[in-house]
Amino acid sequence: MVHFSQTGQLARVVRSLVAPLAGAPDVELVEEVLRPRRPYPFPWPFWRFLDAMPESVLLEPPELEPLGVRPDQPFDLVVLAYQVWYLAPAGPATAFLKSDAGRALLGGRPVVTLIACRNMWLAAHETVAELIREAGGVLRDNVVFTDRASVLASFITTPRWLLTGKRDAVLGLPPAGVADADIDGARRFGHALLDALRAGREREGAMLGGLETAPAPALILSERAGRRAFGVWARLIRLAGPAGAWTRLPLLALFCAYLVAMIVVVMPPSLLAQRLFSGR
Ligand SMILES: Cc1cc2nc3c(=O)[nH]c(=O)nc-3n(C[C@H](O)[C@H](O)[C@H](O)COP(=O)(O)O)c2cc1C
Repeated sequence: MVHFSQTGQLARVVRSLVAPLAGAPDVELVEEVLRPRRPYPFPWPFWRFLDAMPESVLLEPPELEPLGVRPDQPFDLVVLAYQVWYLAPAGPATAFLKSDAGRALLGGRPVVTLIACRNMWLAAHETVAELIREAGGVLRDNVVFTDRASVLASFITTPRWLLTGKRDAVLGLPPAGVADADIDGARRFGHALLDALRAGREREGAMLGGLETAPAPALILSERAGRRAFGVWARLIRLAGPAGAWTRLPLLALFCAYLVAMIVVVMPPSLLAQRLFSGR
């Protein structure tokens, strides 16, 4: 199992999910925590949070410390847990997926991905699925945990959490992040994985078939549009300098204004339209 977590949220989901495997006498579980050479701050300073966008979106990952595991160890299954940053896989996950060691670990192996994020994960998952395929891995299943809060509420509670570290309920809005009950419930996927491994179903057949994960959000249209727009912004901001350069600040400020305008003006009617068309 490979993961990285800033607040510990994804690490908690991973631990809960793999608990049944960790407790099984016939399974050897190896944990690989990804360690960026230059750690990301938490809570995020405002500009650093925005400045993470271009490299995340353009899949230009940070440098990682070398992995602890040897890729040639005989693993039956790789569980790759990641979170979403700007509709793309978080930098450390991208770094793993693009590194020689990461690719060697995934090559020829069944892979189950695990996501814990606010609620926009489809575009990032398309990217991760492609990178796993390029590495020669076989994506067997994907488990997703998201905020239960509404899309619009989580546009307030998530940035508040990431920029101040405060996660509690505020202004009548629910706490940020994945609910504790959902995190505890993750172990049912671990039981399903254990059953599948014992029956040799990691190579073919359903691994987690039938277990309900987060509903596929009705946001794919907004996500695809957002991903295209973020790509344009990312390339533009990269022209102004490398990550951390003050010369990026004016464009980052414009990008921030664009983000707020999208959330306030464009998201509500597009969510409504998608809901009407999907009949939900
Ligand atoms: C820079 C940044 C960008 C993010 N962008 C998204 C996003 O596009 N979609 C989403 O659902 N969550 C997004 N999130 C929330 C994360 O996916 C995740 O839920 C949160 O950072 C907590 O993860 P962790 O503490 O396990 O690292 C973002 C978080 C950060 C730090």
